[in-house]
Amino acid sequence: MRSFYLVGNWKMNHQLESIDHFFRDLNLPLKKEGLYLGIAPQALHIEKLISKSSSWDLRIGGQNCSSYSNGAYTGEISPASLKNIGCDFVIVGHSERRSLFNETHEVINKKLHKALEEGLRVIFCLGENLEEREKGETERVLAEQLENGLQGILEKHLSQLVLAYEPVWAIGTGKTATASQAQESHSFIRNFCREKLGPECDSLSILYGGSVKPENFESLLREEDIDGGLVGGASLKGEDFSALSKIAFSLA
Ligand code: PGA
Repeated sequence: MRSFYLVGNWKMNHQLESIDHFFRDLNLPLKKEGLYLGIAPQALHIEKLISKSSSWDLRIGGQNCSSYSNGAYTGEISPASLKNIGCDFVIVGHSERRSLFNETHEVINKKLHKALEEGLRVIFCLGENLEEREKGETERVLAEQLENGLQGILEKHLSQLVLAYEPVWAIGTGKTATASQAQESHSFIRNFCREKLGPECDSLSILYGGSVKPENFESLLREEDIDGGLVGGASLKGEDFSALSKIAFSLA
């Protein structure tokens, strides 16, 4: 059985006061087997979110981590420390990390391994940009990101792995992939993983990300291979995140 996910990626947004407003306006559904709700705030706000979220069934995670557990790596975020302060997951390979911070397949793969070894759930992101889509290269790009990014993953870690298909042209642009466009890529990703990693991948959760909002979430979730959303802009307000969580709850 696959779990349904709703994960908010707050990126570099919110201050202490606006986080209080978020929680004031939050109204999440009750805990439900197979439903996972999470938020990845800026690293500096993780501890605050962990204490604020204690009355809800809500997990907190990091947006990024180092490929090292500890040592002389000034400015890095240790995956061991994320785990130690109570994070449940970390996002790895987000397109903003790939394009703005030059993260290569190799670096992303190292981060993935380290985070999995430290016991974190990893949300591994992948997706094509507009030029690649227009040239008909979507599947080639997804295959390359999967092949390199997941290289060497052990069977015992598959249960900690979640994938997030995020077409770069849909992130923060208001342009969502249609449900059938997204389903096509999700099904390609699942088949690719099944071939490379085995039949366990039938239970891998594959999230969609890119301008998800309460108005389009349900039609995306109704697709066969879409198991949730990784949501940026529409996860920043308590009311919107609550609305998204109710949709996920009703379909989980
Ligand atoms: P968006 O961001 O929902 O604002 O498009 C999604 C993401 O980058 O994870």
